[in-house]
Amino acid sequence: MTYPKQIETLLRSALQQTSISAELPENLDVQVGPATDSRFGDYQSNVAMVLAKRLKTNPRALAEEISKHFNPGELCEPAQIAGPGFINFRITASSLEAGLIAQINDSERLSLPKLSSEDCKKIVIDFSAPNIAKPMHVGHIRSTIIGDCLARVSRALGHNVITDNHIGDWGTQFGMIIYGWKNFLDQAALNKNPIEALLEIYKKVNDASKDDDAIRQACRDELVKLQQGDAENLSIWNQCVALSRNSLEKIYALLDVKFDHWLGESFYNDRLAPLVKKLKEDGLAEESDGALCIFFPDDPNLAERAPCMIQKRDGGFNYATTDIATIEYRSEEFCADEIWYVVGAEQKLHFDQIFAVAKKCDLDTSLDFIPFGSIMGKDGKRFKTRSGDTVSLTDVLDEAVERAGKIIAEKNPDLSASEMEEISRIIGIGSVKYAELSQNRLTNYIFDWDNMLSLKGNTAPYLINAYVRTRAIFRKLGHEFQGVDSIQLTETAEKSLALKLAQYAEAVPTVLTDFRPNLLANYLYELANTFHSFYEHCPVLRSEGDVRTTRLALCDTTSKVLKKGLGLLGIETTDRM
Ligand code: ARG
Repeated sequence: MTYPKQIETLLRSALQQTSISAELPENLDVQVGPATDSRFGDYQSNVAMVLAKRLKTNPRALAEEISKHFNPGELCEPAQIAGPGFINFRITASSLEAGLIAQINDSERLSLPKLSSEDCKKIVIDFSAPNIAKPMHVGHIRSTIIGDCLARVSRALGHNVITDNHIGDWGTQFGMIIYGWKNFLDQAALNKNPIEALLEIYKKVNDASKDDDAIRQACRDELVKLQQGDAENLSIWNQCVALSRNSLEKIYALLDVKFDHWLGESFYNDRLAPLVKKLKEDGLAEESDGALCIFFPDDPNLAERAPCMIQKRDGGFNYATTDIATIEYRSEEFCADEIWYVVGAEQKLHFDQIFAVAKKCDLDTSLDFIPFGSIMGKDGKRFKTRSGDTVSLTDVLDEAVERAGKIIAEKNPDLSASEMEEISRIIGIGSVKYAELSQNRLTNYIFDWDNMLSLKGNTAPYLINAYVRTRAIFRKLGHEFQGVDSIQLTETAEKSLALKLAQYAEAVPTVLTDFRPNLLANYLYELANTFHSFYEHCPVLRSEGDVRTTRLALCDTTSKVLKKGLGLLGIETTDRM
């Protein structure tokens, strides 16, 4: 159990012994969080202030009474009161020692608690989901990186996770692509770089059709033929999907992102007509201007907005239709308890609508929209190439690896060529991921190469470098850490580091509370800082006996927590750089 949870239990029993025990609210939230000022303690609770306000008594006096009854046992020092009525707790050296030993003996989970079986959920995570035959652009990076991190953290906690790449592989763009394929295809370019070639086709058709009704009509005809199962068009479509998937797989391999399924929009094609029929029969959908729509007159958020369209006037189906079919499929076939969608904030209305439809259909899967803001350039405008195009993800990743290579070559010119290549990839990709994950996902963040690749500050290179330092200690020592029987924490810097290490078990679960990977990133950053100040104050290899063993234990556990924690963010580590 984490320290705050243990303190909470003790606080509850203290509260039972106070004069207000009869007046305690039934599900009282006894919050224990990190202390705002570490001079007063490691953790603090404002429970006395909350209760005093409610019961209209003096908070400080109530805090005194609670702490008088607080029996800290071995866990912490006697509780201390600070300010208007905060109760502060300092974990004892002996608890920290026991905690560190437990963490050393649990090298797999490092004391990260596993969820109880009733708290384990089956969760489908819908993320990345680029539209194929168009290059994955840098906006998709946010979805891919955040979604992958949420999947890793959920799995580590014990949830049953299904990752599903709901690619946009069906839809109006294919009318244009097929028309272009038949009229403008450059086979050599296609062989060389399929995604670029498909984009070229798309652009050419787009330009050509601008003032040409005939071409626009021809594109629509190709789309209808595709939807009716025309063999030639289906074969072109299949080739486009295969080629795109191939290039996407390369990007995912570079990012180390894996999907259990790739059930794209086309997968649901056969389900759309029966679904629409059912929605109509059930009286949920009604005709409006020749189209079929779902209205939400009772929903204050949606009543005044445009309705959710599930069939166009020409009989075609919409993005929403596919997504409703997808929810049905995931809830019935996957038996999902929850579905999480990691998609840009601009699609909020769409998800509000389809979630409302799912509710009308009595699907009892819980649905979460996990939006994120935009990536901005240094100029404060949306991130674009110099020519104003959207930035392709491959270009970003290639540039990241190249820039990391230059920095590493400067830092450590003795590395072999193959080490250089491997380390540049780890640092380059890690930097892009960390820049994303260390931000609050809702803010628009500025894409800045110098910041994200800096060896100082809250960056991947800084954290990976902290890990490298821990590894260097054992290289110098000549062997790996060999375990301990007893630990003795005496210096403040040692205790602070042991406490930080124990807080790994607190930090990881917070990621899922509000889908915030940045909380884990911040924790790792604090851990690296705490390690550095420990390392400055406490010589490791120059110390002796039990002191040395204890310090080696701290270094080794720091090493493991950094590696595991970065791993949960999807970031690899390297032993040297
Ligand atoms: N393909 C969409 C896009 O690029 C994202 C799909 C998100 N997932 C979903 N089930 N709608 O904007």
